[in-house]
Amino acid sequence: MKTIDELLADGVSGKRVFVRADLNVPLADGTITDDGRIRAVLPTVKALADAGAKVVVASHLGRPKGAPDPAFSLLPAAERLGELLGAPVAFAQDTVGPAAHDAVDGLQPGQVAVIENLRFNPGETSKDDTERGEFADRLAALADVYVGDGFGAVHRKHASVYDLPARLPHYAGYLIATEVGVLKKLTEDVKRPYVVALGGAKVSDKLAVIDQLLGKADRLLIGGGMAYTFLKAKGYEVGISLLQEDQVPVVTEYLERAEKQGVELLLPVDVVVSREFPDLKTKAPTENTVVDADKIPADQEGLDIGPKTRELYASKLADAETVFWNGPMGVFEHPDYAEGTKAVAQALVGSKGFTVVGGGDSAAAVRTLGFDENAFGHISTGGGASLEYLEGKTLPGLAALED
Ligand code: 3PG
Repeated sequence: MKTIDELLADGVSGKRVFVRADLNVPLADGTITDDGRIRAVLPTVKALADAGAKVVVASHLGRPKGAPDPAFSLLPAAERLGELLGAPVAFAQDTVGPAAHDAVDGLQPGQVAVIENLRFNPGETSKDDTERGEFADRLAALADVYVGDGFGAVHRKHASVYDLPARLPHYAGYLIATEVGVLKKLTEDVKRPYVVALGGAKVSDKLAVIDQLLGKADRLLIGGGMAYTFLKAKGYEVGISLLQEDQVPVVTEYLERAEKQGVELLLPVDVVVSREFPDLKTKAPTENTVVDADKIPADQEGLDIGPKTRELYASKLADAETVFWNGPMGVFEHPDYAEGTKAVAQALVGSKGFTVVGGGDSAAAVRTLGFDENAFGHISTGGGASLEYLEGKTLPGLAALED
């Protein structure tokens, strides 16, 4: 994989460089609530601009349906990028139309433009190679060189991620190089004990990675909504907690396999339960109690790991040499159910090992709960991407940068 340093060494002054970033940031009423992904691509954008490139930044945001939708405009992200760069950033209100061409044609060396959400065009995400290819051709007309730096999207076989680099000289940006370096550390020569904490709502999203990790990790700590499918597989009743009944057989097989292979697979021993899901907007106080994991009342749902589990998980993380954490332990967005996620984050902060927070909700949790990002070894910008890498899959956006 050629990196941006080689491109810079060859000289980019005056060249139009297309940077495929992942500016898919969380928005609430048009306001960015976590700009981590924008800050993560700054080193690449700055280096190119400083070297005199005409930088064209592109990304998706959310999942619009292949047509313009103001709710998913990239404008707020473009404005934030400008603030962080400390320089004006031009914004094109289309992706490959006249506005994009005008914005790119208007760039002077060292200037930056952002084009509108790539997913406003159906060609970006199409499953049809020809349709994707046609969109990639139109994107290629905007640039001379491609820099892939949208790590969060490299698991998507999308036009700007997979087809466009085949049409232009291509390089990996600093973010992708860093993320891949970190993930290599988790897959090759990992320092032990290697402890993985997995949470989040759906167990089905994590099955493939658990399958892989059963052969690699020393301990697996399970929390979040997915824990209730595991508790059910152990024969416990889980009340009205999140449950993926159809996944119980495969989860049962994982519990058996963990035991056979000597992998410690830990489940919550107590949980915080309530009759109602909390209001995440008002964050109004809720009625809740702590119960043992095998005593969840029939009319209540588990919303966080309990205090005994927090202590247990912290003790299992204490001597880890390597930690990977993906997915919150509870409904951390509400203060009544944030303690489990805080406890795991705190254990990572206190760890002497190499700690990696794997993207998406857990990265947002770390920042919104007020932890210092620098206290972690690495906070990945890719949730799905880092999981698929650990699953051992070939990621289209990395494969496309290889040759
Ligand atoms: C993410 O948020 O994980 C990436 O931006 C990819 O987004 P997607 O899941 O909508 O493809």
